[in-house]
Amino acid sequence: MTRKAGVSTLAIHGIPQRRPDWSPVAPALLQSSTFSNPVGSDDEVLYSRYGNNPNQRDIARKYALLEGADEAIFVASGMGATALAHLAVLRPGDHLISSGWIYGGTQRLFDQEFARFGIEVTYVNPDHPRQWRKALRKSTRAIFVETPTNPLLRIVDLGPISYIAEEEGLALLVDATFASPVNFRPLEHGADIVITSATKYLNGHSDVIAGAVAGASSFVEEVNRLMRLWGQAIDPHAAWLVDRGMRTLALRMDRHNQNGMAVAQWAEQQSAITKVHYPGLASHADHARAKKVLNGFGGMVGLELKGGAKSAERLLNRLKLITHAPSLAGVETLISEPRLTSHKSIGPEGRAKMGIPDGFLRLSCGIEDAADIIGDLEEGLK
Ligand SMILES: Cc1ncc(COP(=O)(O)O)c(C=O)c1O
Repeated sequence: MTRKAGVSTLAIHGIPQRRPDWSPVAPALLQSSTFSNPVGSDDEVLYSRYGNNPNQRDIARKYALLEGADEAIFVASGMGATALAHLAVLRPGDHLISSGWIYGGTQRLFDQEFARFGIEVTYVNPDHPRQWRKALRKSTRAIFVETPTNPLLRIVDLGPISYIAEEEGLALLVDATFASPVNFRPLEHGADIVITSATKYLNGHSDVIAGAVAGASSFVEEVNRLMRLWGQAIDPHAAWLVDRGMRTLALRMDRHNQNGMAVAQWAEQQSAITKVHYPGLASHADHARAKKVLNGFGGMVGLELKGGAKSAERLLNRLKLITHAPSLAGVETLISEPRLTSHKSIGPEGRAKMGIPDGFLRLSCGIEDAADIIGDLEEGLK
């Protein structure tokens, strides 16, 4: 798949300008909580909890350019980004409409914490687009969507949702963690705000917890205000690691895209695997939409094994290259069982209804040779 126009990695590698002589090639890490300030100045002080440490600022500028946003801000985790993005647009008494296909942590945040703030949430099945309008109330202020979704890799159609959001004056927030800005940029599809767990593809090395949001300057200013008060700033060292990861983002995404496709195509041929969920396959429910809106299909693959949970456990115990661990989008291939991780609280019947039977495995293809990933799965399935 060729990369669609508009995705420029100049944002990552720097606006073309000559470096001054003797400047470091790698950015300096300013692991300092505070900075000296001129006596008598009433300019804003530099203090890392304020998010104005140069390491924090640099990655925010790069991420904003990547998403095509006015501004961006990094915080200490993807959950922190989701929480602050919503708190920036919602007040007690407000109503939020959310896609029902979202990360379990986000759903718990909505159900347990937002309820405490008097923010009500209505869940909509994106397979029934009329429900978005039906769910509207006088107090509705925002709509939240995750795409691609976890773990079925569904691609939600933002077209009709952004139309309603614009017509009704609502903020449309989109978590596109599973795509990264290389594969999908929600702001180009009508979203107002993009949220990402930078723990995943942006950093890409499974050694940082971080999150980011991007959108209009006024929105990011409000998230910044909340971040300072709720103490959510990203640590400068974590910001430095995110910067290092982002410098290989485009390269890694190309490899994740290739490996995801190779593994998915191989998996479709295996009798031990009853169903493969990958938006790049013609058999995927959203393949046509994925082809239209994504620049790449990504490294995430859902596998349903014949023999259910027992077969899954057997395979997991035999894998060598592939690591059984939660999280995703790092350079190393990881595998997890949604029934015991992200979708544990839903129960077997609820999961079956959602199309996630026992024996479902979520594979995050790393950047190893595709043949090595496939070889490990082949050995494990023998
Ligand atoms: C889609 C999505 N959004 C947000 C998060 C939360 O990110 P973090 O673990 O960085 O807080 C996750 C974590 O898995 C995720 O998968």
